[in-house]
Amino acid sequence: MSAENTNVRTNEDIRNDFVLISQNEYAYLDNAATSQKPVCVIEAEKRFYTDMNANPMRGFYPLSLEATAAYENARGCVAEFIGASCPEEVVFTRNATESINLVAYSWGLNNISESDEIAVSVSEHHSNMLPWQMVSKATGAKLNYIECEPDGSFSDEELERTINSRTKLVAITHVSNVLGRRNPIEKIAEMAHSYGAYVLVDASQSIPHMKIDVQKLGADFLDFSGHKLLAPMGIGALYGRKSLLEDMPPFLTGGEMIESVRLDDATYAEVPHKFEAGTVNAAGAYALSEAIRYINGIGYEYIKERDRALTAKAMEALRKTEHVRVLGSEDPYDHNGIISFTIDNVHPHDISEVLAQDKVCIRAGHHCAQPLLEHLKIGSCARASIMFYNSEDEVERFIESVASVRRRLGWA
Ligand code: ALA
Repeated sequence: MSAENTNVRTNEDIRNDFVLISQNEYAYLDNAATSQKPVCVIEAEKRFYTDMNANPMRGFYPLSLEATAAYENARGCVAEFIGASCPEEVVFTRNATESINLVAYSWGLNNISESDEIAVSVSEHHSNMLPWQMVSKATGAKLNYIECEPDGSFSDEELERTINSRTKLVAITHVSNVLGRRNPIEKIAEMAHSYGAYVLVDASQSIPHMKIDVQKLGADFLDFSGHKLLAPMGIGALYGRKSLLEDMPPFLTGGEMIESVRLDDATYAEVPHKFEAGTVNAAGAYALSEAIRYINGIGYEYIKERDRALTAKAMEALRKTEHVRVLGSEDPYDHNGIISFTIDNVHPHDISEVLAQDKVCIRAGHHCAQPLLEHLKIGSCARASIMFYNSEDEVERFIESVASVRRRLGWA
């Protein structure tokens, strides 16, 4: 599929690529938790196991060489997709959480000390907060929380208060998983670099919705999970600038990450293999490269247009629905497909259960971002999250279902 013929493919054509949504009645609006997978990705994973399954990098027979090639070509595909300067800057991991922990344990514990500071935004998913709490506790470094405004933005004063000459690392999400707001990473990176600090960008929620270029962003590290980007669960990636990765010790030790082993010591493989201990998820990496090819075929212009149109439709209707409050910016463009909301006097879990009765799938709770919800002075919220394959009909079902919640729970 080329970017050109995508323009003539209808939403229905695209939906037909996703069996679970085209052949079921679900209105699947929980894409920020995990995306659905197109047939080509499912087939790619199956193809790995049916046509080329062998342990990569271990055998000299054709099957193993083919498996190795599939795995390493996938690395090249990810590197090109995110603008890395070479494939060695991409480490395959299980997911974003593992990528961030790799940086925290390997780089953080070895480069941060008591007199240093780590700046972390209050809007982080727990996976980009707890590893830095761990580093702070282990080293004595101060954690500086960058607080956001109610619309999710950060003021210049707040950035200046929290990033300074003692800062060693700024760990920040590209797009909040609750508010959908895109953070000004370029500006933050420039500021951090002017103090000699590094920047880790969690791109888990942005990469399904916008083009990532690690050079333009100024990211020193960047992580994402494959499963939010149409790929299977259990494959993710960490980008790290090569010079940084080279100076870091391994995170996990064991098979395949070595150059040689003696009884009393070992020398380690070059990057990125130094960070890929044990048998890797080659089928997942291969399927991730297929997901990237599919996304490139769809094109981010189309994705943005769908995000904006469907989010605007939902937000406009929710704003007119009594007792419903949408969190974050009033501009649908700032949401990147994420619409978090509350309904007066209704617990978000009840909202989600009522919607489930209508086969509308959303997430409810604290969304692994408890400090953000506390900062916004709400304990929990409901969240609908959109992908380019969602339809106007699904959004209408969502709107109608939300409008009926209070009545169905005996409030109206
Ligand atoms: N991090 C995912 C979410 O926000 C699971 O739902």
